[in-house]
Amino acid sequence: MTTTRLDAGQLLDRTDALADLLIDTVDGGASVGFLAPLDHAEAVAWWRERAAGVAAGQLAVWAAHDGDRVVGTVGLDFPGKPNSRHRAELVKLMVHRDARGKGLGRRLLTTAEKAATAAGVTLLHLDTETDSPAEHLYRSAGWTRAGVIPDYAASPAGVLRPTTLYYKQVAAG
Ligand SMILES: CC(C)(COP(=O)(O)OP(=O)(O)OC[C@H]1O[C@@H](n2cnc3c(N)ncnc32)[C@H](O)[C@@H]1OP(=O)(O)O)[C@@H](O)C(=O)NCCC(=O)NCCS
Repeated sequence: MTTTRLDAGQLLDRTDALADLLIDTVDGGASVGFLAPLDHAEAVAWWRERAAGVAAGQLAVWAAHDGDRVVGTVGLDFPGKPNSRHRAELVKLMVHRDARGKGLGRRLLTTAEKAATAAGVTLLHLDTETDSPAEHLYRSAGWTRAGVIPDYAASPAGVLRPTTLYYKQVAAG
């Protein structure tokens, strides 16, 4: 399995495989911005829309490949504001259900954290559904729980769920 950072062209080339991963994640009940069932065309369109941000350097996307499949991904969103250049948001950490529990999620998280520090970022933040499996991963990777917002987003089944905010201060590389 190889993990690569995608440029905009590579992302556009892989939107079908990335869409399959997004759909699997939503089908599995994870709150990543969508309701179930997620249509393949809608998932492809969502990924295609990310290409402009990647081309502009506002978004970094990594994909873990197993042959033609994308079995994992993670992103870093860099805010464009002049007062926020030290900060990035960790977004869309997803591992396909049949690839979970083997360390890939942790490896993707480490990859994004290292890239962030190499880019001079000193503060990372994210939000994740409260009590989701991802919380254990973030806490064990040294992230600090900042608080909970109730009724933040609907689960794929349409039920409002709280989100937990996390941050991690890192040394610039
Ligand atoms: C969260 C996610 C990325 C973890 O991916 P993964 O490849 O299974 O993670 P890893 O195998 O690296 O495991 C990382 C840690 O989480 C733990 N973990 C993984 N799945 C778990 C589960 N269902 N329940 C409890 N702990 C779990 C592992 O035991 C491991 O901890 P350890 O090293 O102390 O044993 C994956 O479950 C996923 O894609 N979930 C849906 C999307 C999502 O919620 N993303 C986060 C949005 S911010």
